[in-house]
Amino acid sequence: MKEQLEQIRAQALQELSNGASEEQIEAVRVRVLGRSGELTEIMRRMPEVPRDQRPAVGRMVNEIKQELEERIARLGEQQKRAAMERSLAEARIDVTLPGLSVPRGWLHPVTQSRERMLDILESMGFEVVETPEVEDDFHNFGALNFPPDHPAREMQDTFFLAGGLLLRTHTSNGQIRVMERRKPPLAIVCPGNCYRPDELSVRASPMFSQIEGFMVDRAGIITMAHLKGVLTEFLRAFYGADSGVRFRASFFPFTEPSTEVDISCLLCHGAGCRVCKHSGWTEILGAGMIHPNVLRAVGYDPAEFQGFAFGMGVERTSLLKLGVDDMRLFFENDLRFLRQFRSGEAAI
Ligand code: DAH
Repeated sequence: MKEQLEQIRAQALQELSNGASEEQIEAVRVRVLGRSGELTEIMRRMPEVPRDQRPAVGRMVNEIKQELEERIARLGEQQKRAAMERSLAEARIDVTLPGLSVPRGWLHPVTQSRERMLDILESMGFEVVETPEVEDDFHNFGALNFPPDHPAREMQDTFFLAGGLLLRTHTSNGQIRVMERRKPPLAIVCPGNCYRPDELSVRASPMFSQIEGFMVDRAGIITMAHLKGVLTEFLRAFYGADSGVRFRASFFPFTEPSTEVDISCLLCHGAGCRVCKHSGWTEILGAGMIHPNVLRAVGYDPAEFQGFAFGMGVERTSLLKLGVDDMRLFFENDLRFLRQFRSGEAAI
């Protein structure tokens, strides 16, 4: 019996070698340890064993049982680990790979500047109103006191559309659009795109943006002094408190008197460069007291109401502020240029 047991053990251990498959192991388990397996069979035949040897045989059966169970458990562990390693190797995940970064955009420098300008003007009490880019002759020219033969109304100075419409050449149409439907007191700014058939160059672009502003109240309340005060305050807030601001007499059909405002050139600090046309100053905006004919065109009595207006190009204003000396850079959208204004430099 002992010999038989020894043989069962040797046979089983041989079959439970390191490379044994799951099926082989299961087969040994059933054959040797199963409910009607070889060891059970031995136990069943215990009465055949001489009484004095029974304890030794019983112990031997238990030892073999324990040894084989341990062996099977260890092989099972090994197999589980191998399966895990196989699946890790197959579906390899490199947790040290950097994640996909989602590229984040930022505002165009001209947009940043425009928002900064509007912020300042709003803080001074102006309300922002959007007005149309596609206009009729009346709102872009007629109501603004342009005579019928004014050169701005020529083909080469205006993009005309079918049906008597045109692309606005300035945001001054905003004055007419707002005053037509509202009564003073008014303090309004109208930002937006404008169009003129100019070649894209260092100083000009066929599409550009302006901010128009105006303030109207009862006659005698808003004067040229307020115009100067508001614009000086605005320009110093935008360009810095030490900027030079200069008012020059000028002419616009829609204002009387009219003025052009210059700012000391921030690029060359007065030394002269191509942006300031070597004068040390750059014209930054046009302004004046709203012409009585403009007030009449919107149904206001010039004896009753009075106010000022101003208009400025946003790209031109930004060029200086950002130290950029070529308008084309704003429109080419070269990321190497735009990246320089990534963290809002244009709005500080
Ligand atoms: N509309 C003028 C232009 O496009 C700018 C301008 C000048 C606007 C004087 C005004 C103003 O309101 O008073 O060049």
